[in-house]
Amino acid sequence: MKVAVIGSGYVGTTTAAMLANAGHEVAALDIDKRRTDAINKGKAPFFEAGLSELIGAAIDDGSLTATTSYEEAIPEAEVVFSCVGTPDNPDGSSNLEYVFAAAKEAAPLLKADAIYVQKSTVPAGTGQKLVKELKKHTERNIHYVSNPEFLREGTAIKDTLLFDRVVIGNSKPDVANKVASLYEDVEKHKRAINSIAKLGISAEQLNEHTGSYVLTSLNSAELIKVTSNAFLALKISFANSIAKLADQADADVVEVMDGVGADKRIGRAFLNAGRGYGGGCFPKDVSGLVSSAYEHGVDLNIMTAAQELNSSMPGHIANKVKESFGSLKNKRCAVLGLAFKPGTSDARKSPAVTLANILAHDGSQVSAYDPQAMEEAAPDLRKDIELCDSVDEATSKTDAILVATDWPELKELDLTQVKKTSNADLLVDCMNVFDKQLVEDAGFTYIGVGR
Ligand code: UDX
Repeated sequence: MKVAVIGSGYVGTTTAAMLANAGHEVAALDIDKRRTDAINKGKAPFFEAGLSELIGAAIDDGSLTATTSYEEAIPEAEVVFSCVGTPDNPDGSSNLEYVFAAAKEAAPLLKADAIYVQKSTVPAGTGQKLVKELKKHTERNIHYVSNPEFLREGTAIKDTLLFDRVVIGNSKPDVANKVASLYEDVEKHKRAINSIAKLGISAEQLNEHTGSYVLTSLNSAELIKVTSNAFLALKISFANSIAKLADQADADVVEVMDGVGADKRIGRAFLNAGRGYGGGCFPKDVSGLVSSAYEHGVDLNIMTAAQELNSSMPGHIANKVKESFGSLKNKRCAVLGLAFKPGTSDARKSPAVTLANILAHDGSQVSAYDPQAMEEAAPDLRKDIELCDSVDEATSKTDAILVATDWPELKELDLTQVKKTSNADLLVDCMNVFDKQLVEDAGFTYIGVGR
């Protein structure tokens, strides 16, 4: 099938690369020429495991091209995916400017009976407005489908191959089935995609995997996406509020959540307490949901409580360091990990960056290091924070080491060696990933979150 994908961010680039490697002819479209140039050279425009390999293979066999021109990408496409950004407005509502601009520009070029598939996260009710927008700019019959994306950064390809569910919101079965068939093609090619992307998913995992196709109305599909992310954010904030209690009640939140999560109705996932959630999705999806509920006269104060709790976590951790030293003035702190989570160079709304800034603001001399996110974190870090090229450089002279993102290489640090070279007193385990005893055996005082 001829497919166009508008937007070459995480969602769009992954979608384009997967479909091109599943036998389709894909045009990736982005207004940023640096992104389309990167793709045409066979490279992902950002770091995501396996994505450059898939793009390289698709460019080589001619199944993928990238362009900045709507006129080139849209007219022949039977299915057009819209994967443009939906950042948040200063008031927390979703900024739908790019979503509407893409629809307006694509509409006059769409062929009759083309399917316009919205993958960007939008508030419930947006699709109905976009159907009207498309109609304003074309007289041809166009189908509109909401097909929200659930992939996570860092595991984007694996999440797409081993999906839990594909949600398709459109009440016409033939339209929904045509979109579903694209995902079925990805499933058929999953072994080849796994080997090109060098993901190392076992044959057993690939064979056993069964995801479901959830066919719903347009508005329900839109609400499924934001509700899923809001619920996960709620789980994290709930774990963090119990962590604050565990700190006072002398309990260990990791043990507590292991016990709580063993109840299959609850589940262990997303109950890891720490410095809180960040990134390009949870913060904006939660604020977008709160704001769209408000417009409908519904007060989602359960989510505003989660937001407040989440914002308090970096300060909560900084206070623990302050209490331990008496004051942060002239204390040296090394913050290891700045990305909002491991496996990505993305530092948007990263609580690790906020933590570094709070420590510096409160008088500490802060050094910072991340294996991938230095460049993307730098603009959001205070200018008095020293940017380092390695763990050794960041920790060479420090009083406290704060592991703020749970990168594998940081979790596996040789603590005895780090203790020798840094002579730091404190190890602050901001994601609760270290064995407390091993940290103490290495000679550090251990500080966790709720432990
Ligand atoms: C999320 C959703 O998981 C995904 O389905 C959606 O499509 C986009 O938003 P992503 O933002 O890539 O994906 O990251 P995710 O892995 O979900 O983590 C989000 C944040 O929560 C990270 O900052 C992570 O460190 C934090 N987190 C996660 C916790 O603090 N505790 C947990 O238990 C889990």
